[in-house]
This record gives sequence, structure tokens and C-alpha cells, in this order.
Amino acid sequence: MIDEIKALITEVEAFTADTKSDVEDFRIKYLGKKGILNKYFAEFKNVANDQKKEFGQTINALKNTVQDKVNALKDELDSKEEVKGIYGDLSRPGEPIEIGARHPISIVKNQIIDIFSRIGFNVSEGPEIEDDWHNFTALNLPEYHPARDMQDTFFIQTNPDILLRTHTSSVQVRYMENNKPPIRTISPGRVYRNEAISARSHCFFHQVEGLYIDKDVSFADLKQTLQYFTTEMFGKSKIRLRPSYFPFTEPSAEVDVYWGLETEIDYRITKGTGWLEIMGCGMVDPNVLENCGIDPKEYSGFAFGMGIDRIAMLLHQIGDIRLLSENDVRFLEQFKSAL
Ligand code: DAH
Repeated sequence: MIDEIKALITEVEAFTADTKSDVEDFRIKYLGKKGILNKYFAEFKNVANDQKKEFGQTINALKNTVQDKVNALKDELDSKEEVKGIYGDLSRPGEPIEIGARHPISIVKNQIIDIFSRIGFNVSEGPEIEDDWHNFTALNLPEYHPARDMQDTFFIQTNPDILLRTHTSSVQVRYMENNKPPIRTISPGRVYRNEAISARSHCFFHQVEGLYIDKDVSFADLKQTLQYFTTEMFGKSKIRLRPSYFPFTEPSAEVDVYWGLETEIDYRITKGTGWLEIMGCGMVDPNVLENCGIDPKEYSGFAFGMGIDRIAMLLHQIGDIRLLSENDVRFLEQFKSAL
């Protein structure tokens, strides 16, 4: 009989339960009035005297094991219930996490930053609300200069000296005022022009300005830098520089990249020429250097400026510039797989 009880102890130790009623059934089976333990206690008087001690000890051990097991199982089920109360059903399937997308302007801006950072350009920023000096005057555009008409400006009504910057070239001025050459910086940011909103133009858009100032910087350095950029950005290395005019650079040029005429889209976007204009550039005018406290006899440099929106529209086949500021998730979602 002692062996029989010992076998029960092993059984009790191995017992597990999923519900409280299983535990209760188990308790009654052993500790209930008509339970196993009482049955053995009743046998006690029939056990031979020399075995009474061992029998008693074994039966007590069974009783303690059952009691411990019942307590342990109750605790376990209680704490499981508590967790369920806090977190709900832990075995339910997980909820899918929606992955966001970067805005196409950010995607293109980051690509441009990445390309120029590889050749030592840092990133600089300036304010969107600018003063006349940084947006115009320091850039060789004095008040009476006809080139100011090229840009329809939002002025702050109460103060004609304060305006929304019309280009990121204003950051060039700030950077030169605050840093000594050698300078290699690009300045991405939003700019504003008082233009009618249409599929092709908006009253705000984004530019990246580039500035390189050092001793003996030449036009050849500019051209090489631009060629590196177009190759990295568009996979196209054939460029041409058309003479142009900007008050802050001399000589000035507009940069075209040879896009090709392989598809109908190529025809459309290049108006059948194969060439696409992507930015303005030039050698920084000595007057501008002087305005910003840099000695033009010691230093020279180049600058360039390009529109991010146009490049994003080109690379991602976006037909309407307004889509870039409407925040329509159906549009934005399409860039999930982009960088
Ligand atoms: N600021 C010019 C614009 O908004 C772009 C530009 C042209 C920037 C030539 C430059 C440059 O730095 O050298 O149209």
C-alpha cells in the first residue's frame, strides 16, 4: 500500500490544470470527504504496527503534496487571469503595423544630400522669412536692379524689408557671413513666389543651393562637380552648359542633362530635343564674395541652384505639382518602397 501511495505522490506532482474547475475536481478527488486521502486514513488502523510510522509519514507526504499542488495551480491561474485583464487575450493574432512612406520631396532631397556629402559638402539651412539683404542686396541685386522682377516676391506688408525667401541663394550669403573658406555646403529648403497655382507651378516649392569657395576654384571644377552629380542622380553623364545670366554669378550658365529620346516620355519632357534643363549655376560674383566678407582676390568659388519638386516629378512621373502638397495618402502611399 505504501508503494501505491508513493506512486500517487509522483502522479500528483506531475498534475497540471487549465481551469479552476479542474483544480477543484482534483482537490475533491484527494482531499474531499470521500477522497483518496480519507480512504487511506481509514486504512491506518489495519496497518501492522511496525509499518504504522512509515505509512503515516507517506500518507502525510501525499496530503502535503496535494495541498501544495492545489495552491500552486490556483496561484498560477489567478496570475494568468490578471495578465489577461491588462492585455486582453494574449493568444489573439497580432494587428498588422502600417508602414509609412517618405514624402517624394524628402526622398529626392535625401538623395541629393547623400550625393554631395560623398564629395565633402555639408548641409546648411537658413530662415524662410528673410530680409532684403540676404535674399537680394548681398546677392548683387540692389533695389533698382531689373533682375528683381524675375522673382515675384511675397513681402511682409508692414515691413518691405522682410519677405518670404524667393530662393535658397539667401543661405549662401548667411553661410559665407558665418564661415571662413574653404566652404563646401548645400542648402535645401522651401522657397516662395507669388505665382498662380497650376499643375506646373506653385506659390511654394523646394530648392537645393550649392556653394563651393576655396583658393583657385575654376569653372572646370564646377563642370566636373555637376557631371558627377548628374551621373549619380540620374545615371546620365552627358551635360551641357548654356550661357545665362544671374546677378550673383559671373559667368553664369544653365545646366542641361542629356536625357535621351528613347521613349515617348523622353520626347514629351524634353520637347523633342533630348535635353532637359536641371539647374542654374556659375562662378560666384566677386561683389557677392565681398558683400559676405570674403576677399575675392584670395578666393573664388562656384554656386548652383536646382528645384527639388521638378526633379521629384521627373523621377517619379508625377504629373501635377499640387500633389506634392495636398497630403493625399493615396498618393503618398505609393512611395512606400522608395528610399
Ligand atoms: N537662385 C536661382 C533661382 O532661384 C537659382 C540659382 C542659379 C542659384 C544660379 C545659384 C546659381 O546659386 O549660381 O532661380
